[in-house]
Amino acid sequence: MLQAIEEFYQTYNANPHRGAYLLSVEATKKYEDTRSKIAKFINARFSEEIIFSKNATESLNLIAYSYGLENLKKDDEIVISIMEHHSNLVPWQKVAKVTGSKLNYMYINDDFEITDEEIETKITNKTKIVGITHVSNALGTINNIEKIIKYAHKKGAVVVVDAAQSIPHMKIDVQKIDADFLVFSGHKMLAPLGIGILYGKREILNKMSPFIMGGDMIEYVHEQETTFAPLPNKFEAGTQNVEGVIGLGSAIDYIENIGYDKIQAIEENLISYARNELSKLDFLELYLTPNKNNHSSVISFNIEGVHPHDVASILDQEGVCIRSRKSLRTTPYEIFRNRFNM
Ligand SMILES: Cc1ncc(COP(=O)(O)O)c(C=O)c1O
Repeated sequence: MLQAIEEFYQTYNANPHRGAYLLSVEATKKYEDTRSKIAKFINARFSEEIIFSKNATESLNLIAYSYGLENLKKDDEIVISIMEHHSNLVPWQKVAKVTGSKLNYMYINDDFEITDEEIETKITNKTKIVGITHVSNALGTINNIEKIIKYAHKKGAVVVVDAAQSIPHMKIDVQKIDADFLVFSGHKMLAPLGIGILYGKREILNKMSPFIMGGDMIEYVHEQETTFAPLPNKFEAGTQNVEGVIGLGSAIDYIENIGYDKIQAIEENLISYARNELSKLDFLELYLTPNKNNHSSVISFNIEGVHPHDVASILDQEGVCIRSRKSLRTTPYEIFRNRFNM
């Protein structure tokens, strides 16, 4: 990844789509080839269904502003899960406030999972958007997104899948799961910081308005009106993070060369070992789904009576990096907090 970025700066550093000169032509080719590579990586039907963004957060905001604000109305419902990252929660609060729609939550059971019953109770005929994380960054729970997507579609809702925590760990096929939107960040899958992806079905993206206006996303500009470029440029205003795009392409090559089968085998080994060893420590309170097959990549725990930052500092002295938090959430997360004993 580092070599690919260095090669970009040393041999074809230019703004794509900006000129007929050789460097820009080459930068454009690499930039668009990477788009195609990403489309193949997640099995999108068309490369223009891949939009480059800054991160998963920006991709989710794009969906909330360009799709949510334009398609929701009073008394419609948005359904997300209680385990969403803030980036798949706060934008929906905004959409709900502006449009008068209602934001509902799918809660978790004592096994830190969303049950089929919860899915079928919360997603209703009024639901227009469902936002769901594929893997929870707090719990490691793998959600049954196939079930959620199928059920949401039956009710006429579109589904936004947050794959930020799953994409480095498991193969994703957007056509197989039938996601309407899917987002992820490069930095969670060995690419540089500051590059993210929005996947959207072409027919939906075509109907959406641009999120950010400026150069490179226009077709014709008149004094009072502008027509917009077709996909994907419509959603890529201004100078893009070309280095990030090139780095992401290279990270995908790296992952694919190893192969998800091998990655998963190593991870299964590691996570089983971690689950076994950590469960022997009776002073740890583990927040783990008992179902090993529903668990990926993250283990959360608490040590009663010890401040999490102290735990993190002590482990840091041993060269172990952990994320520490006193409390995950404030309202409306009572249920989540109760479950987590915080
Ligand atoms: C599940 C999940 N969604 C979204 C995000 C947001 O990613 P970013 O900060 O790269 O936008 C994260 C980051 O931790 C995450 O874990």
